[in-house]
This record gives sequence, structure tokens and C-alpha cells, in this order.
Amino acid sequence: MTTDEFIDSFNSCVMGTYNRLPVVFVKGSGARLWDREGKEYLDFLAGIAVCALGHSHPKVVKAIQEQAARLMHVSNIFYIEPQEKLASLLVEHSFADKVFFCNSGSEANEAAIKLARRYANARSSGRQYEIITMKDSFHGRTLATVTATGQEKFQAGLDPLPRGFRYVPFNDLEALKESFTEHTCAVMVEVIQGEGGIRVPDEGYLRGVRELCNERELLMIIDEVQTGMGRTGTLFAYEPSGITPDIVTMAKAMGNGFPLGAMLATDTVASAFVPGTHASTFGGNPLAMAAGIATMEALLDDGVIDKVSETGDYFCAQLQELAKKYEVMKNIRGKGLMIGVELACEGAPIVYKALEKGFLFNCTAGSVLRFVPPLIITAKDVDRAIGILDDVMRSV
Ligand SMILES: Cc1ncc(COP(=O)(O)O)c(C=O)c1O
Repeated sequence: MTTDEFIDSFNSCVMGTYNRLPVVFVKGSGARLWDREGKEYLDFLAGIAVCALGHSHPKVVKAIQEQAARLMHVSNIFYIEPQEKLASLLVEHSFADKVFFCNSGSEANEAAIKLARRYANARSSGRQYEIITMKDSFHGRTLATVTATGQEKFQAGLDPLPRGFRYVPFNDLEALKESFTEHTCAVMVEVIQGEGGIRVPDEGYLRGVRELCNERELLMIIDEVQTGMGRTGTLFAYEPSGITPDIVTMAKAMGNGFPLGAMLATDTVASAFVPGTHASTFGGNPLAMAAGIATMEALLDDGVIDKVSETGDYFCAQLQELAKKYEVMKNIRGKGLMIGVELACEGAPIVYKALEKGFLFNCTAGSVLRFVPPLIITAKDVDRAIGILDDVMRSV
């Protein structure tokens, strides 16, 4: 079957929820991918900020293989050894006292919304339920999380949406303050808006959100689904702000490609979940936990996160140089290895051209090229990426 025939067959049986690029990857290693024809690609997308350790990292592969051969699933009506181990690791390295495991970012945020509502409901006799989120945010695709997402395009055709969400502009503390009502129970925010176009708020913004939440005794939920697990140079992107959140959600890079999500909370807030209030059949199963433990240990113990800022700064500097040659590259922004290039034109044709030349990244918010490579890339990988991008920009 040729690749075109395969794509026809795929489209005949898989729902059309994605605009897919016409390539079929069959193998990956580190920051490299290979398609069915054996063509090699340099991957600066990493499955959209998922494969932080690179594709098929040997330690994660080994952990999954060994766990699969021993025990894959038992259900959360029993105690699970590796669940305790990953939860302990997360607690040790974060603000949190307790962890709830699930399978994706949407599920982690859904859990956060439920936990915040239950916590506030109990304390206010049902008066506080509203969650403030940011315009251009992205929190997921379930009905509640797509409603939390401050982008109407993702909500089209889904009416009636769940009640109890209100949106304010990102990076605007005054607007946030104005938005509070007697019904507000929590604020939910990304440290850097990923799907919204790699938008980095001003220094002090997160701290400002925390202070406003403190004044009104509101919960602060940080969505670290895309920024977490070392992407911006620290395990969690909220760390440099010095604040303590009430709830943090994470997913993407947690299992280095194995589906895995988590919601972290303080003891006080976590106490609003008691048996029967929330659950997941697969969440925290032994196989996912083995992938999560191996990923987290490799990220921390092998010094991967320590190098992110240096590599990210180098990549940004090279992009800035390139932008001097191509006026269409309007703005370069981001942190660590979460980098956006805002263009003065549509980004899709550039993504397509780069793909043809064996270089992978994507476009978000219409005109922002998004680079979220494996965190293990080297300066040599960056040089190669810049070389290809130079070729691509020259030709458009
Ligand atoms: C910040 C953020 N939150 C939540 C999600 C949803 O995660 P998932 O696609 O795993 O449900 C995403 C996905 O891109 C995200 O970037």
C-alpha cells in the first residue's frame, strides 16, 4: 500500500477531527523520526510537548516492558505500588500534598474544576462555584474544560455549555480583580499560554494572581499540562514566581508518550474529594505509573532539566539572528524549550514546507510557529534546525 493509499484508507475509517499533515511516522529515536519511506525528520514538536526525553527513551521503554510483563492493570479499588511511588515523587518535588491520577490534560483539568467546586461549595453553602479563566487559554476538550477554554472557536456548536465560567484577558490583573463576584470560587491560569500562541505574561503576573486570590480566599489553579515537566527550565513553570498554588494540573510529558495525567493539590483542598466523589478506571494504573516514574527519574536524575534554559536561550538567540533576515518573523518569545515565532503571515505553509525538508514543528493561533522539541536536543540539533528554517523562510 502506498502512503497515499494508506491515507485514503485511514480517512475512510477514522473520524475527521484533525487536519493531518500527509506523513506517516513509523519509528522514532531521540529527536529523530522516520516515515514509511525511511525519510528522516528532525522533530522540534515532540508529539506536541509530550516526548520530553525524546522518542522511545531506553529507560522509559524498559520500565514499560518490565511492568507490562508483570502487571498492567488492577483497578483503583486496590492499593497500587507504583502509584504510591510516583505520587511521592511528585509531592517531594512540588507544593502538593496529594495527587489524583488520570489519563490526559483535559481529565486533569476536569478533576481540578470538580475539586475546586466541591471545596468552595462546602465552604459557602453552594454560593461560590464560578471559575475565572483567561481569554485565549486552552484547558481541554471535554465539555467542562472546553468551556473553561477562553476561545469561542473551540466551543462552536456545543450549546448549552456548562454554567459557571467567566473569562478575562490574560496578563491583566486589573481585569481579573474586576471580574470577581460573590460566586467566584477559583482562578485557573496557564503560566505561558501554549495553544493561545506561546504568550508569556509580564514578570510578576502569577504573583499578582496569587495575591488577588488570597485577598478573596479564592483557589488558584495552575494548568501546567503543557509547561510542566521541565519544559521551561524548571520541573514546574510556576516555580520561579515563588508562589504556592492550590491546585496544579499536568499531563503531556509525564509519561514521555504514555498517556498519563495528574492533578496535584494541598491537603486542605484535596480533602474535598472523598470516596465516591471522583474516579477514573485507568487513572494511575501500574503501566502508566511505571512510565511516569521512569520519565520523572530520567528528567531529574540525568540532568535533563538543568540544560533546558541554556539550550532554549541558544535556540532563541539563533532565531533572533534569523529574524534579522526575514521581516515576516515579527516576534520571538517563550521560555526554556517552549518557543513561539509570531509571523506577519499564516504559519501553515511554512510548517508544510519545513516538513518537506525533514523538519517538524507546528503552528498555533494561526500565525505562531511553535517549537516544543524534546528537552534532550543539543546545540548541533538547533544549528541544523536553524539551517532548514533559513532555507524554508527564503523560499516563502
Ligand atoms: C495547557 C493545556 N491544558 C490542557 C490541555 C488538554 O490536554 P489533553 O489534550 O491531554 O486533554 C492542553 C493540550 O494541548 C494544554 O496545552
